[in-house]
Amino acid sequence: MMVYHMGNIVINVSGDLNEFNTNCAMNIMEQINKKPDSVVGFATGSTPEGVYKKLVELYRSGRIDFEHVKAFNLDEYYPIKRDNPQSYYSYMQKHLYSQVNFNPANINIQNGEAEDPRAECAEYEKKIKMAGNLDYQVLGIGSNGHIGFNEPDDRFPGKTHLVALNEKTISDNSRFFNSAEEVPKTALTMGIKTIMSAKKILFMATGAKKAAIVKEALVGDITPKVPASVLQLHTNVIVVLDGEAAADILPLLENT
Ligand code: PGA
Repeated sequence: MMVYHMGNIVINVSGDLNEFNTNCAMNIMEQINKKPDSVVGFATGSTPEGVYKKLVELYRSGRIDFEHVKAFNLDEYYPIKRDNPQSYYSYMQKHLYSQVNFNPANINIQNGEAEDPRAECAEYEKKIKMAGNLDYQVLGIGSNGHIGFNEPDDRFPGKTHLVALNEKTISDNSRFFNSAEEVPKTALTMGIKTIMSAKKILFMATGAKKAAIVKEALVGDITPKVPASVLQLHTNVIVVLDGEAAADILPLLENT
């Protein structure tokens, strides 16, 4: 593992996927061991799957305790039934929540079945505030630069909101569905303000397909056209990449 510093941002480049998963899981574990009742935002997608697997292993070996952790999901499709295997509710249950000792009362996910999505979003923000605000946010990046479902736009969206998914996201995520037509066209997502309010952010990316966007996000202009670029303004971000995702930014880091 190599560690680089770029302004406020710490960039950790892992040798392979196994090391990447371990590094991310250890970072999450450190947070929870330091503050057992941490308010943690969890992300979905392919990237964190192996990370959650490691967290489950760490839990089984007695090194981490989720009993007092308050979990908030980054996003959820809308509309979607909770029991749809592609809902982020199902994803989180499968990969993490049902595998470790969370108190179910501490698990929060935007309700993809809510009748009034706007009221659901306002309620979600209220719950985060009542919990004491996010201590730590686990975050991936879409190949279009999105974080959560904050898609490239002309402005940075604020709080949790209903969003129209863009074509790139629908086509990227269609791999999980039978066809692109089945992918919900809208979603409920924490906004940029919600994400940026987290005291610490773990920003993760793997694979060659993310190399260009990772570089753009971390050293390009700060612009809502690349939503992840806003992370350059956060004062406590740890970036964990595998070698492939780091390929484009690495030459810049090695010269610093
Ligand atoms: P992925 O998704 O981990 O499945 O690549 C990341 C994201 O869209 O945020």
